[in-house]
Amino acid sequence: MKLVKTEDGSLTFFSEKYQEHYHSISGALEEAFEKHVKALGIKDGMKILDFCFGLGYNAIAATKGHKELEIFGLENDLTIIQKMIDLEVPDLLEPEYDNFRLLFEKMEITDENDNTIKLLIGEAWQNLGQFEDGFFERVFFDPFSPKKQPEMWSKKIFHKIYLKMKNGGKLSTYSCAKMIRENMKEVGFKVLDGPRVGRKSPATIAIKNNNTQNKK
Ligand SMILES: C[S@@+](CC[C@H](N)C(=O)[O-])C[C@H]1O[C@@H](n2cnc3c(N)ncnc32)[C@H](O)[C@@H]1O
Repeated sequence: MKLVKTEDGSLTFFSEKYQEHYHSISGALEEAFEKHVKALGIKDGMKILDFCFGLGYNAIAATKGHKELEIFGLENDLTIIQKMIDLEVPDLLEPEYDNFRLLFEKMEITDENDNTIKLLIGEAWQNLGQFEDGFFERVFFDPFSPKKQPEMWSKKIFHKIYLKMKNGGKLSTYSCAKMIRENMKEVGFKVLDGPRVGRKSPATIAIKNNNTQNKK
């Protein structure tokens, strides 16, 4: 895997398998804070699903300035988790990142503010089955792109995630592709534009709406 510096100074990798970077090259950390953490209005004590954990930027960015978060990271590749151990991280996130570097060895870590990150290794949608319906208040949805991993952006996956979310729960993702938004709507999500960061097109926020009947 090739290490690449993104425009905000944070590092990412290039996946040979998917021929794609793990993050936006306009700024990996910026993406985590702007498109995920800030866009979803993370609050203390929330239960968060990090669907495709990778280097953990989204989950760890969420712990900055927060307490008592319960974050569950789904990931099928231990080699990327192992990279966390000695990854160089900008000052902005370094103290928080240091708290969770050893997830590869421990699989579950709680920091001094009672934020917990727990990893579930394996096929993301299968591990999702372990949670009760309505469990998650927020979801960071971060697979490789719809072009590279179309199966991850399918109605089937969105339906499974929808069921595991609380009413009023919110999901963030970087893509605004028409196909993925249609799939989200069809399973019952209300779909909104997310922030425009580092590129012209917006990210996407999907809300599990109390009043929307789940159609699937
Ligand atoms: C775009 S990267 C995510 C970056 C990550 N959110 C971060 O902050 O570093 C996509 C991640 O999804 C993982 N992945 C791909 N397919 C998966 C699957 N079917 N189940 C679980 N994880 C998967 C990849 O190994 C990769 O780490």
